[in-house]
Amino acid sequence: MADAPEIEPKAFHEFEHAGWQRASSDYHRHFIALTSQAIAPLLDAVGVPPTTAKSKLLDIASGPGYVAAEAARRGWSVVGVDFSEAMVALAQSVHPRIAFRHGDAEALSFANGEFDAAVMNFGILHLARPEDALKEACRVLRSGGRFAFSAWATPDKTLGFRVVLDAVAEFGDPNVQLPAGPPFFRFSDPEECRRALEAAGFTNVRVEAIPLTWRPDSAADFFEAFIKGSARTGGLLNAQTPSALAQIRAAIEKRIAAFERNGQLEIPMPALVASARKP
Ligand SMILES: C[S@@+](CC[C@H](N)C(=O)[O-])C[C@H]1O[C@@H](n2cnc3c(N)ncnc32)[C@H](O)[C@@H]1O
Repeated sequence: MADAPEIEPKAFHEFEHAGWQRASSDYHRHFIALTSQAIAPLLDAVGVPPTTAKSKLLDIASGPGYVAAEAARRGWSVVGVDFSEAMVALAQSVHPRIAFRHGDAEALSFANGEFDAAVMNFGILHLARPEDALKEACRVLRSGGRFAFSAWATPDKTLGFRVVLDAVAEFGDPNVQLPAGPPFFRFSDPEECRRALEAAGFTNVRVEAIPLTWRPDSAADFFEAFIKGSARTGGLLNAQTPSALAQIRAAIEKRIAAFERNGQLEIPMPALVASARKP
């Protein structure tokens, strides 16, 4: 088996940034109905806002801002932070009453102990230096504050990823030249979540499996979601040759059509929510 390529944090960070700048509106259009299914378990994991005035929650890698909006509805005073200027502008236009800031999860510009809770919905698998981001989340929390993040399960369970990755392996090049980042499914492993959270200074780790289902409008819509609305998987698809990409697309759309039940595509996309407390 080939050795995993050495991670290139700076190049990967730039690749991700360019990807989200390009993909913000298509991500918003295609993925929100799926990733929003994790919001309730994520916010439940950090608990209800304490009754003291102005309990503050930080939504890290906030994207179009739906976690932030639901947290505000639950009574938190919310700040969202994202490193994509396009995502910050989108979130601010969709949720004008919430504060969204431009910033890097790996080097937050907030003070020590500024927040009562922090969350990150499907952000961790996009970070060049996830250990730094976990330490930063811990630093900006007050003692006793809770943090929760979500991540996808492995492709044997997230069948949407399996269809795409199998088609790339069969008709294209899975090792096409892209800046190497941390393994996409690293945080699918509850033990790895626990280890990483404890190494960042957290305690009382809990990991919960959550059953998400993706219901795209059509097989073509499913393919478009990945190629236009995602950074890492979109980057992998866009780097294929035109003829390989045409074969990959045909295979994906044919295999995804098999998930239709009573006229609706239903694709299992389970995830996990890992949460912990700052001592
Ligand atoms: C898959 S989207 C998740 C968006 C949102 N949390 C949701 O619930 O749909 C990943 C987000 O992470 C952001 N992101 C990636 N790396 C980041 C970093 N180093 N710092 C801040 N945001 C980052 C991207 O710009 C993008 O908005």
